Amino acid sequence: MRIEQGQVAVVTGGASGIGFALGAALNSRGITVVLADIEAQALAAAEKRMESTNTVSTAVCDVSDPDSVKALRQTVLERHGRIDWVFNNAGVVLPFKPMWEHTQTDWEWIMGVNLWGVINGIREFVPGFVQQGTGHIVNTASMAGVAVVPFNGAYNATKHAVVSLTETLAVELAQTAPGVRTSVICPGLVPTQIGQAARNRPGGEQPEPPEPSNVVDDHSHANVITAELLAARVLKALEVDRLYIFPNPGSDAPVEARLDRLRQELATSGLEAARA
Ligand SMILES: NC(=O)c1ccc[n+]([C@@H]2O[C@H](COP(=O)([O-])OP(=O)(O)OC[C@H]3O[C@@H](n4cnc5c(N)ncnc54)[C@H](O)[C@@H]3O)[C@@H](O)[C@H]2O)c1
Repeated sequence: MRIEQGQVAVVTGGASGIGFALGAALNSRGITVVLADIEAQALAAAEKRMESTNTVSTAVCDVSDPDSVKALRQTVLERHGRIDWVFNNAGVVLPFKPMWEHTQTDWEWIMGVNLWGVINGIREFVPGFVQQGTGHIVNTASMAGVAVVPFNGAYNATKHAVVSLTETLAVELAQTAPGVRTSVICPGLVPTQIGQAARNRPGGEQPEPPEPSNVVDDHSHANVITAELLAARVLKALEVDRLYIFPNPGSDAPVEARLDRLRQELATSGLEAARA
């Protein structure tokens, strides 16, 4: 689908970082943008910060709560009458540690936002897209969704799941509603507020935020890009209908390393199976 004036986009996690930059880039192209976020104050500030003559509105939403995502869709339709783009982008991180040391509530929180947030977005918005025959659902995963990042196991698991959901959704849509598209963004390091993700944690449990350097996968600081550059690259990739979007330079190395290992082990197990 082309990016065209008059369309309406919903961006979750839109009050900060990557979500805000995606919203601003879309809005500067004449798209009505709804920034949805769990942080009401940050949303109000974001709406002010978005320097544009095109329509911007905000909605408080907790993506981990299906009722909240349902209410978001209803609000957007009541306000703007249509929805063309949905960016399931809200996400959180945990402090780096061996995965067996994360508590039950650590796991439930990160799964709730990063995985259930995307599931809720798909379940709520895709049926309307299928009915109208058009629409594009864009999920934010991470390089951690295609590579191994030690001591980040819970986050990796959610992001691998988001990549898998999007890959599967693409095939299902191609067979049932070819006018509806989906893409997955796999950012490397982007300076944002993700290191302070615990600010949004319910129940007052605030674990130590990770060191900013801990959020870096195994790629170097030379590959860091700004959220604005990421957004510009994402929009270009969407216009040529890419399924996988790798906005940071150097993204190939960690993916190649994983694929090489898989290829090697596949080849070996194939030989072993043939000999058995
Ligand atoms: N920054 C990076 O280096 C990086 C790298 C790879 C992937 N990502 C992914 O990019 C996405 C955006 O993160 P960011 O870096 O812009 O971080 P950020 O913290 O700046 O923005 C995330 C936004 O999500 C919101 N949010 C948190 N919990 C929510 C909930 N339950 N419901 C609704 N909104 C909620 C926060 O309030 C915040 O505004 C995330 O999915 C993250 O995993 C970021």
